[in-house]
Amino acid sequence: MTGDRSDGGRYGEAVFRPEQAGEGERIDFGALAYDGVTMARLHALGVGPGWRCLDIGAGTGTVSRRLLDEAGVAHVLAVDRDVRFLAERPVPGLEVREADITAPDFAPGRFRLVHARFVLMHLPDRERLVRALARLVEPGGVLVLSDAVDLTGDRAPRTPYSTAMRAMWQGLRATIGTDVSRVPAYPQLLRAAGLERVAAEIHVPPLLPGSPISRFWADTWERSRAAMLATGQVDDAAVDEAIRYLDSEDCAALAAGMLTAWGHRSAARPA
Ligand SMILES: C[S@@+](CC[C@H](N)C(=O)[O-])C[C@H]1O[C@@H](n2cnc3c(N)ncnc32)[C@H](O)[C@@H]1O
Repeated sequence: MTGDRSDGGRYGEAVFRPEQAGEGERIDFGALAYDGVTMARLHALGVGPGWRCLDIGAGTGTVSRRLLDEAGVAHVLAVDRDVRFLAERPVPGLEVREADITAPDFAPGRFRLVHARFVLMHLPDRERLVRALARLVEPGGVLVLSDAVDLTGDRAPRTPYSTAMRAMWQGLRATIGTDVSRVPAYPQLLRAAGLERVAAEIHVPPLLPGSPISRFWADTWERSRAAMLATGQVDDAAVDEAIRYLDSEDCAALAAGMLTAWGHRSAARPA
């Protein structure tokens, strides 16, 4: 699935390095755009008091903290390869663990909620990972996966935005293996992993000048600029033009969607 990755290593290495100034703010812009939708879905799934939760690739921890503050869950284990942002703001009920979720020995226990947002799309061997995460769901619990869907395919009008987005997806795939092409298959992957009552939805936040999602993409292009240029599809001027376009009244484009898919582990038949 990510076999065409060249030499950029993994997420957080060639691109999106956590030590690079502003990386936490970039993740927070994405969180500002999507946290409301994520929390609404988690509430609708019944997540609430007493639940033990696992937040995979928790980033800056906005969802982990809102699970504790708003949903009133009992405990959140927030896991990330790099926990510097999570460690900055400890709160009661939040346990932080540095771990690579692709490691064969990653076995944090079982949870009523297992949640991963904007993580799996960057990782290889998606089917195996979804099966592994499904096994972490306790009977009666739920696995919730969110990742990006690209809406700048061949039928989208050519704009500075769509040109930059296409170059970005291609560049990220070539450097760190990011692959959003399989995200629409998540409902089937959850079902194949033995989960039940599987469903999914897509949210597309409006690209308004100065909005969190527009700032997120502008920042993301800056950080992946080298990978974008390496595709040969854009030059520096085209990336600059796309950033200006995003922040202008001329912008008329669809953001990437966030697909959220979920599936329940039967209370009667543990894995
Ligand atoms: C785009 S951020 C998403 C953060 C958060 N889930 C959110 O939606 O706001 C991806 C996160 O996944 C983490 N990550 C990437 N690969 C990982 C791995 N193999 N194991 C654990 N965490 C990983 C990164 O360090 C980063 O914090």
